[in-house]
Amino acid sequence: MQTVTAIADVRARIRAWRAEGARVAFVPTMGNLHAGHISLIELARRHGDRFVASIFVNPMQFGPNEDFAHYPRTPSRDADMLAAAGCDLMFMPDVGEMYGAGSTAPTRVEVPGISTTLCGEFRPGHFEGVATVVAKLFNIVQPDVAVFGEKDFQQLVVIRRMAADLCFPIAIIGAPTVREPDGLAMSSRNQYLDAQERAMAPAIHAALRTATGVIAAGATDYAAIELEGAAGLVARGFRVDYFAVRRRIDLSVPAAADRELVVLAAARLGKARLIDNLQVERG
Ligand code: PAF
Repeated sequence: MQTVTAIADVRARIRAWRAEGARVAFVPTMGNLHAGHISLIELARRHGDRFVASIFVNPMQFGPNEDFAHYPRTPSRDADMLAAAGCDLMFMPDVGEMYGAGSTAPTRVEVPGISTTLCGEFRPGHFEGVATVVAKLFNIVQPDVAVFGEKDFQQLVVIRRMAADLCFPIAIIGAPTVREPDGLAMSSRNQYLDAQERAMAPAIHAALRTATGVIAAGATDYAAIELEGAAGLVARGFRVDYFAVRRRIDLSVPAAADRELVVLAAARLGKARLIDNLQVERG
């Protein structure tokens, strides 16, 4: 595996692969890789001849009081994991390379509507930061295929819309969430949980399963399902940002006829903000 930090070096490598007729698959990450990332990588490898991963903790997607400074950074372990997973090129730029050393007001990519609901309501500017960095990475890597985890379901919907609206010729693939044996969705932020919080954390997945179970059985009183889901988590000690039933395609509030749904939750335990979701077809 080759490791590069400069955009020009990524471009040179991709040009050479293109000349050989290779199909390029890409997984953008913020590093601190775990089994969830490796599953994205394995899926990406099935869709390309050459495989690129990026590791960049993107300051633009963190709010002023969020964990940018403390976000876990483990570059040499990440490099080992990527090499073992068969990665051909690891792109690990610094902030100056991505945003320009002196740029105080870089161009931003805004995906309206879906960026300001759910997590967007609690993390203003977050999805603008995500859409901006992913658009930049797409322009740098110019992959045929890019893989994103369904755990960050809203992010996946935002990126699909951004890629369609900006005419990126890139297939966006969603990869199923990888869970711990007790149901907790794998996330770098699980490291912020102490032992007691870690024992409580699978309650989010359990609440989502209860909600999707009643929806699959035909329930349509989504407001009641949302209230019950949120109240159950509050009773267990979570600070709940939202527990919401939405249309899978665009995260809007479902109408009576909608069947392809997703139940999404975001809740805080101690220092950790946990998100999770489960897709469901209404019965
Ligand atoms: O999901 C992530 O790790 C990040 O939001 C992403 C897509 C790499 C953009 O920084």
